[in-house]
Amino acid sequence: MNILGISGSLRQASFNTTLLHAAQEVAPAGMNITIHRLHALPLFDQDVEEQGDPASVVALKDAIAGADGLLLACPEYNGGISGVLKNAIDWASRAGRSRQVAALVGKTVCIMGASPGMTGTVRAQDQLRQVLRRAGARTEPQGEVLVFQAHTKIIEGRLVDERTRDALGRHLQGFAERLAATA
Ligand SMILES: Cc1cc2nc3c(=O)[nH]c(=O)nc-3n(C[C@H](O)[C@H](O)[C@H](O)COP(=O)(O)O)c2cc1C
Repeated sequence: MNILGISGSLRQASFNTTLLHAAQEVAPAGMNITIHRLHALPLFDQDVEEQGDPASVVALKDAIAGADGLLLACPEYNGGISGVLKNAIDWASRAGRSRQVAALVGKTVCIMGASPGMTGTVRAQDQLRQVLRRAGARTEPQGEVLVFQAHTKIIEGRLVDERTRDALGRHLQGFAERLAATA
């Protein structure tokens, strides 16, 4: 089971990127998570798209199309998803000139998020579900991984909180089961 992991934060010490690394560690047997960085992705521009997708966009779309499922780590900015993540979704929601169907269509997407606040990105995750649904993807499993007070659980770049690690492992197990059921 090849899963593409994407963090909605470009920050070097990002809690959300760290959560992706933790997911790699606690993923169930047979689930392989590869992280795709968004640092090179330009802002969506329909004029650019009409000329043909830039290399970083092609790479993102190919990576999504080739994955069995996606794992998105979703920061919360001003009660919503990060512009970085929305931008990537906007690109991937479009077929562009080289595809028949957008890479996101029909994809199963597992979401999670971390923030230093008390709500652990719940608002951003709700918004992310809506955006993904509009783009033709489905989110699974139904439960949530909301890593609140992330600064107390992620220390020196590692998720050290055992309860959160267990919850993340169960979430990924549910994701694996949904992927297997819908394959
Ligand atoms: C512009 C901005 C808006 C933010 N708004 C929220 C918010 O609405 N809710 C929240 O929990 N945290 C908010 N934060 C704090 C982020 O959760 C925090 O910066 C977090 O570390 C970002 O994720 P990262 O660690 O993966 O980079 C905001 C941060 C910034 C820079």
